[in-house]
Amino acid sequence: MRALAGAAKGARMCGIVGYTGKRQALPFLLDGLRTLEYRGYDSAGVELEADDGELAEVKCRGRVAALAELCSGLPGTQTTGIAHTRWATHGEPSDANAHPHRDCSGRFAVVHNGIIENYQELKAELEGTGHSFKSETDTEIIAHLVEEAFRGPAKGSLETAVGLAAARMQGSWAIACVSSEEPGAIVCARKGSPLVLASTDEGAYAASDVTALSNITSRVINLEEGQLARLEPSGKITVYNADLSVVAEPDGFTIDWDASAATIGGYPDFMAKEIAEQPAAIERLLEGRLGPDGIVLDGLSLPLDEVAAIDRIYIVACGTSWHVGLLARTYIERWANIPCVVECASEFNYEEQLVSDHTLCVIITQSGETADTLASARKMHARGAKVIAITNVLGSTAARESDGVIYVQAGPEIAVASTKAYTAQLVAAALLALFLAKANGSMPLRVVRDHYREMLRIPELIRIVLSRAWQDEVAARAFTDAQSSLFLGRGVSATTAREGALKLKEISYLHAEAYPAGEMKHGPIALVEPGYPVVVVVPESPVRDKTISNLREVDARGACVIALATNGDVRVAQLADYLLLVPPAPEWMSPIVDVVHLQMLARYVALARGCDVDKPRNLAKSVTVE
Ligand code: AGP
Repeated sequence: MRALAGAAKGARMCGIVGYTGKRQALPFLLDGLRTLEYRGYDSAGVELEADDGELAEVKCRGRVAALAELCSGLPGTQTTGIAHTRWATHGEPSDANAHPHRDCSGRFAVVHNGIIENYQELKAELEGTGHSFKSETDTEIIAHLVEEAFRGPAKGSLETAVGLAAARMQGSWAIACVSSEEPGAIVCARKGSPLVLASTDEGAYAASDVTALSNITSRVINLEEGQLARLEPSGKITVYNADLSVVAEPDGFTIDWDASAATIGGYPDFMAKEIAEQPAAIERLLEGRLGPDGIVLDGLSLPLDEVAAIDRIYIVACGTSWHVGLLARTYIERWANIPCVVECASEFNYEEQLVSDHTLCVIITQSGETADTLASARKMHARGAKVIAITNVLGSTAARESDGVIYVQAGPEIAVASTKAYTAQLVAAALLALFLAKANGSMPLRVVRDHYREMLRIPELIRIVLSRAWQDEVAARAFTDAQSSLFLGRGVSATTAREGALKLKEISYLHAEAYPAGEMKHGPIALVEPGYPVVVVVPESPVRDKTISNLREVDARGACVIALATNGDVRVAQLADYLLLVPPAPEWMSPIVDVVHLQMLARYVALARGCDVDKPRNLAKSVTVE
């Protein structure tokens, strides 16, 4: 098992970019911030440094576009700079609280992703020695700590000063710092919040995630827990341990995305693009997965005898990925006969688990950086369980800290609402279940092959659903005057209902409650009144008739029924106000196909309500705070 770094307590969803080199810094910094917009933010800022060390700062509440406007008057000759998108935690979103933050002398400027938990004590101490503060942020103390250390024990070395500042701090951080004392240098530090670095002939780069670097280079350095780095205009990057000893071979990896994968192409929004990309993403994931002995999952690297002995699985995730977990449990319990517990990470971390030598923990996280999910993995590792990650992001913290990984290979997902990562993660969960089932003898190879061959049909089934987007556009009318809505389903479709309701809430800000259809009469049915939208997920399945009974119950009370049903289902068609038709699919597979309609429905409702479907309010792509 890999040794684990100390548990991160949490971090902001902020984005950091930095550049020092031969080119003008501002264009890269603004482009980098634009690519990180998807992480969620409320203000943005940039610090530029001229060759003589003179610093120039521009920052504002609002979008990167507003920052770019403010920067248009700058000479643009500076070749060093750091920039930031801020998602407020300490202090309201405002110009003053936007990063960068400087020390008293104005010689040190810092951007930060994370939370300094002991900032109040440090601030009081610094104020006691004469420092004054301009913002309400925890981040500002870092600049003052660096200032103190630089003129004291660091004896004029920027990396030593940043290292000494970090040693005083508790919490989590990714930091980039520039100083007029060392023109051209950027010093970075990481604990708990990701930071990647890159070097080219043009200079050295830093960013919170690889999307900001993917059109610069395919080879990046991953700054590891507790490490620092010094970036120089020549492109030289020196990585240090916390004690400032040099790291001989920093951890590097290759980005396997082509830069265009993170651009919008000809689509109206990233969500539309990512919904459309689902068939191709799943084809990529499925390719070559059937070997002579069953499902091939190269990244798992767990000894087969250990896999065969697994007798309990904890599946932990958040949000949409937790919905994947609910279906992963169904697949694993049905096929591999291994009891599973599925829990959302924020709850899991404060509960007791039963861990033996044969316990496996599966974390599911698109970004690989969700703080609660990482904390769960670390907790299970510390208890002696093996941890495997299902993730989309190569080199993410989840991937690096796990004993095994299944990359879902969906490509960068930029829209905050997860779509293609959801369906790809479901396919990965099914592959994992088949892998386990074969390994422990629960399923013969012949049946594994049959299931795999069935799975190969998923992309085509999704293409059929995509071609019926007009049905979702029409059904979106049911929500025009709605204040609330209900999503119902039974069995595996109960999870599809949950995911559909989450999508609608996230991007249209319309309340949507998901309920197992049979439970509805124990409470939520009281919500139903004439015209109330109820989405009923009722594809062909052993529980279809039962769900139709529930559909009748809401129909009898005047609900506006949007029914997701299998082609040719006349009974459902007669009861529904709007129909979303899906092609016939095996019951276990139907959630992977059916949800595509609900993604499109949510998008059309959100567009009709004038919402930004890619960047919904208050949400961040990667939730790196507890
Ligand atoms: C999905 O639409 C949401 N934005 C959110 O629930 C997300 O799934 C959750 O934050 C977990 O993210 P992860 O998969 O990156 O860990």
